[in-house]
Order: sequence, then structure tokens, then C-alpha cells
Amino acid sequence: MRAGELPAKRHIQFRRPDGALYAEELLSTQGFESLYSLLYHLRPPTATIDVKPWHRPQPAFSPNEPLRNRHFKTAQIPSAGEAISARTPVLGNDDLTIAVAEFSEPMPYFYRNVRGDELLFVHHGSGTLETPLGTLAYRAHDYLVVPVGTTYRLHPAETTRMLVYETRGPVQIPRKFRNEFGQLAEHAPYYERDFRAPVLQAPIEQEGAFEIRVAGKERNAIYTVAHHPCDVVGWDGYCYPYAFNLDEFAPITGKLHQPPPSHATFEAPGAAFCAFVPRLFDYHPLAIPVPYNHSSVDCDEVLYYVSGNFMSRRGVEEGSITLHTAGAPHGPQPGAVEQSLGKTSTDEIAVMVDTFAPLHIAKAASNVEDENYYRSWLEAPAVT
Ligand SMILES: [Fe+2]
Repeated sequence: MRAGELPAKRHIQFRRPDGALYAEELLSTQGFESLYSLLYHLRPPTATIDVKPWHRPQPAFSPNEPLRNRHFKTAQIPSAGEAISARTPVLGNDDLTIAVAEFSEPMPYFYRNVRGDELLFVHHGSGTLETPLGTLAYRAHDYLVVPVGTTYRLHPAETTRMLVYETRGPVQIPRKFRNEFGQLAEHAPYYERDFRAPVLQAPIEQEGAFEIRVAGKERNAIYTVAHHPCDVVGWDGYCYPYAFNLDEFAPITGKLHQPPPSHATFEAPGAAFCAFVPRLFDYHPLAIPVPYNHSSVDCDEVLYYVSGNFMSRRGVEEGSITLHTAGAPHGPQPGAVEQSLGKTSTDEIAVMVDTFAPLHIAKAASNVEDENYYRSWLEAPAVT
């Protein structure tokens, strides 16, 4: 990607019309070894007036004890305000924090996560993600991939509900969907044209006191800087936020049931993401459209239900999260297999992440747990 004005070579003199030098900034990941972008600011981004502690409430997680499948009705979690303070963690481990957020107010400050990439899934609502590299308009069913270190604000145009994944590393397209040069492969369920890049805006030349809240799990701070962060006249490189809408996902379907890795979208350290979107079912004459029973013997599966008729799940609603844990089999509830026979398509939308380390449960999730979910595979509801 490249946008705006750039000098002919990197690291050379590049001057404003008034003769002053632009301030070059390298945004580089994994030291100098991985994706990076070069930005040209009107003023140095380093001009820091003040640094104060940011006493961010840390979520208290409890182990999934006793170890069992669970269902959380996260639509019932109270959430309001702006995009960051509205985040309510529900599940987490050292690799990943999963939070829900519903918000309608613009962020008065900038935010920067310096621990890992963020993957934001827009359940409903619309607005913009404002960054120094440009703005990204978002809408329902967008994934927003926000690289570590990106300074940003979210401005909802209407009430927005997001599922927030905070990772501890890069969020990437799975290797199996890329060729040796990184280009998306012909068999991938998406294509470069499906991804939206930020649109660089006119640089904002403002002196003052601008708040940037820096988040790094246990290491948080509130910075006050002297120049507006969105004062970039040009940038190029491979490290930038982007959007991908599930409407553009071209699901891989087959003669027989396709497992979740066919529906993979992204991956991050210790986490594999996939999406279930409206699609045709399997076309073998005796195919069973719903999934078979299965045991994830060594990972936890977290499904977030977005919309549609969730044929294989009893009792779930929009905003539900099911945690199908390592050690407990799960599958269609009684009657679901028979009901599915002969069906040719589904309108369900759901997004999933599998984690390879055990997930712990936040109090906010326990408060909205359907505690009988683990019994929902019984033929008749059991008497407790
Ligand atoms: Fe599963």
C-alpha cells in the first residue's frame, strides 16, 4: 500500500512547503523483522508533554471449573459509552482476550494497543475507525484487523456492537490460503480485492494536548502529546489496519460436510478464527447438513452467534457465546440431525475462534450463563 506524498527514497530529506523537514516514522513489528510501514508526519510524533498511569480495571478470570460446555447470553451484558470503556471481557487466556462492547459515543481520546493485534468483529452498527494512516468506514459483519501499535479512535455513526479479540501477536491470513510470495491463493475463500484499506485524510496540523491511552495488558499509560496524531502526509508499507466484510467471504462447500478449517479467516498466536456464513449445504444425496458430534480434545471452541437460524444449537440467541471445551464432546442437539435432512442451504452467520490454551471465564460472562446448557443434549429436558 502507498498513500499521499512520499520522498523518492526512504530516510532522506523530505521538506514541507515552508522548508521544514517532515518527521519520518517507521512503524515496525517484531523488531525490524516483520511487517512495517513508513509514515511522514507534519511534526514529530515523539513530542510528549506528560505520561500518567492508566489504572485500567483488570478483568478477574476464573477457570472453567467444573470443566464443561457453557453458554453465555452476552446480549444481556450491560455496555454503553465509547468503544474502549464499553469493552467487557468474557473469556481469556494469555494468548487472547475476548470481549463484547456496545457503544454509541465517539472516543474523546486516542487508543493504542501495544501488546498485540486486535481483531474487531462488527455485529451491528456502522461508523469509522480513525488512524494516522487513514480512516476505515465500518459496517455490520466487518472484521477490522488493527495491527499492534496503531493509534486509533472509533466513531460510531449509530449504536455499534462489536466482538473484540485482543491477541498477543500478529493476526494473519492462514498460510494455507497464501502462496510462497504471500499472495492469496486461488483456492482461498477471499481475494485481495475483498479487503479494504484505510483512506488517508488531509493531515491535521494542530498544536495542543492530545490524549493517547496506551494499553499493554499489565502495562498501561495515558500519554499527552503535543501534535495531533493524524498529521500524516503520506505512508507506504505492509503494516496498516484493514477491513474485511463477511458478505465477501466465499465459503468452501463440498459433497460432504466441510470442517471449520475450510472456513478459516485469520489466525493469531494460540488462536484460529473462522466464519460460518450463508451457504449451500453438502450435495451428497445422503448428506447430513449439520455437523457430526465431535470432541476437541485439545482446544477450546468459542462460537459467537450473529444472525440466522442456528439449526444445530438449542436455546442460543443473537449475541450468544458457546464455549465447547476440551474434554467434552458436543454436536447437534436431539432432533437436529433429522430436521436438517433434505435442507439445501443455511442463512446462519456465526464467527468462531479455537484456542489452544484453556480459556478462563470472566465474572461478566458467568452472570449471563445458561447453566443448563451442558444438559441440552439430553433427549428430554432433565429435572434438576
Ligand atoms: Fe465444534
